[in-house]
Amino acid sequence: MEEQLTVGRVAELAGVTVRTLHHYDEIGLLQPSARTGGGYRAYAASDVERLREVLAYRRLGFGLREIAALVDDPATDAVAHLRRLRGLLVDQRDRAAAMVTAIDRELEARARGIRTTPEEQLRMLYDVIGAAYPATRRTEPRIAARIWAALGDARTVLNVGAGTGSYEPPDRDVTAVEPSAVMRAQRPPDAAPCVAAAAGNLPFADQSFDAAMAVSTVHHWPDAVAGLREMRRVARRVVVFTYDADSAGWLQRFWLTRDYLPEFAGLLDGRPALSELAGAIGARTVPVPVPWDCADGFFEAYWRRPEAYLEEPVRRAVSVWTRVGPAAERRAVDALHDDLASGRWAARNRDLATLDAADMGLRLLIA
Ligand SMILES: C[S@@+](CC[C@H](N)C(=O)[O-])C[C@H]1O[C@@H](n2cnc3c(N)ncnc32)[C@H](O)[C@@H]1O
Repeated sequence: MEEQLTVGRVAELAGVTVRTLHHYDEIGLLQPSARTGGGYRAYAASDVERLREVLAYRRLGFGLREIAALVDDPATDAVAHLRRLRGLLVDQRDRAAAMVTAIDRELEARARGIRTTPEEQLRMLYDVIGAAYPATRRTEPRIAARIWAALGDARTVLNVGAGTGSYEPPDRDVTAVEPSAVMRAQRPPDAAPCVAAAAGNLPFADQSFDAAMAVSTVHHWPDAVAGLREMRRVARRVVVFTYDADSAGWLQRFWLTRDYLPEFAGLLDGRPALSELAGAIGARTVPVPVPWDCADGFFEAYWRRPEAYLEEPVRRAVSVWTRVGPAAERRAVDALHDDLASGRWAARNRDLATLDAADMGLRLLIA
């Protein structure tokens, strides 16, 4: 007869708490399918196999909902799961190695008393957090369509602060610029060629591109206005996807910054107003609503899916959380967790449930 294990025994063997197993049972992720002689629920061998997969995906940073979809995938048998897990682990090992190298480089520089420039510090930020980026950051097709339409008939396109290349139009001749080695290393093998440089000093002759684009990056540039002028210098058309840094607006329009993370306002200090950015390149400003199911996990993306902010991989792929520091992050996440559990968040944000898209202050600048 097949061995059946009690919840206590499985918890002990797997190194998790009984509470965790009860939670997995309640949410339908892992429901013990056997019964003991006394009629109690018990774990069969197939349940234990499923638990092993769940815990492995969990350790890789996947959220419980994502794990449910992965382990329930009828097309994936145990061997396919093991292969997929192996691939993910190798990937994670390589990224961790890249982070260790970046941190060693900074430690070495500090030990030699070398002061890093703001440009270098920001590049290091992405060398450290960049490895977590691809987990949730990808092309949002509705935003991509707007950016590509704004590029007009441009054939040659420069993508500044290109990262992994999420918004690079597939049907144009693209050249990417990206200062972080970790981000460059994560560009897919078939992505556009990428130059190691920063926005403040683009290594291209005047007017060498039909258009230059910059997506979700201008807020990282030490001198945003100078970078935009550089884009203007090297290209005839400029398209920038950024946000309105007016802090009063921010604190009102997004429940996350209003109710949980007011420290965000500190990150906006000294940032040029949107009108100043637009004025620097003679751009018009177009609002870009964020769809409720936005595929790109940027900071504002989960405005109607608050549980997402409780997930570590979601936060690690957004620099805001690293920049506010661990204490503010922990406090915000704990408070949000409690408000979601008590229904307070839902009561406060009832009006969001019926919206398909929201104006979160994101804007296209088109010049
Ligand atoms: C949030 S990511 C956006 C990446 C990509 N554009 C996207 O939409 O997925 C910000 C990127 O800006 C880059 N960055 C930081 N400082 C920069 C600078 N001074 N010039 C150009 N890019 C910079 C970072 O290395 C990072 O790849």
